[in-house]
Amino acid sequence: MKIILTGATGRAGTEVLKHCIQHPSITSIIVLTRRPLPLSPTSPSNPTSKVQTILATNNDYLTYDTPEILQATAGAEACIWALGDPWADPTTARTISFDYPLAAARVFSQRYNKNTVDGGKKKFHFVYLSGGAVERDQSKKLWFLQEERKVRGQAELALLDLAKEHNAQRLAVYILKPGMFLRDRLVDSLVAKLVPSVRVDVLAKVLVETAVRGAEEDTLLNRTILEEGRKL
Ligand SMILES: NC(=O)c1ccc[n+]([C@@H]2O[C@H](COP(=O)([O-])OP(=O)(O)OC[C@H]3O[C@@H](n4cnc5c(N)ncnc54)[C@H](OP(=O)(O)O)[C@@H]3O)[C@@H](O)[C@H]2O)c1
Repeated sequence: MKIILTGATGRAGTEVLKHCIQHPSITSIIVLTRRPLPLSPTSPSNPTSKVQTILATNNDYLTYDTPEILQATAGAEACIWALGDPWADPTTARTISFDYPLAAARVFSQRYNKNTVDGGKKKFHFVYLSGGAVERDQSKKLWFLQEERKVRGQAELALLDLAKEHNAQRLAVYILKPGMFLRDRLVDSLVAKLVPSVRVDVLAKVLVETAVRGAEEDTLLNRTILEEGRKL
């Protein structure tokens, strides 16, 4: 299975990439990134040789029609969208959290539908890494990062609408809304008692399994991510 990944240089994305490399069903990982990965993905002796890195030209995550991207993403069956910046100003937040993933979901699923050879049974899986604090209710008063959280809420709703609209064309959208990311340290276990949170390696496993197999629900809250993580 070929999978597309964004945000691979970030905390979640780095773990997702590791799990993709280890996953037996994933044969090819196309990383869309604005800066090179720290590993050397092209070395044949490196297990990351199933990774192909595509540098986004002019930081463009809106169009996907250069010959290099067309060739690399052909036949992809899923995308994990782990790109994001919770501290971006509202304008940038709209571009990176709304415009980018919507454009990608539209293009990759349309391409999948044109090229599919599976007899029309499967859907393209678009897995959007959002956050537990992201708010879909646009009328709700929020006390911090109001605009940013609501813009991301709009993105969640627009992606789910896109999946409904494109049902016949077979797009499935899954939105993961984790709490705070943890590493396996003492301070984290204290934090885990106070706020919704998840170990980032557990989150990554759930993101990858969702991309590979899909999920029963279109939205996975922190408690569901923890439950799914325990099963893996
Ligand atoms: N950290 C948490 O506790 C937490 C909790 C819940 C949800 N989340 C959400 O999960 C997602 C990933 O979080 P993270 O902690 O892994 O983030 P991170 O470590 O800051 O990584 C963010 C990733 O997005 C890329 N990125 C950011 N702004 C970009 C832009 N303008 N153009 C292109 N690429 C851009 C970064 O690329 P560069 O490396 O090139 O900058 C990096 O690959 C975010 O959406 C975040 O809001 C995080």
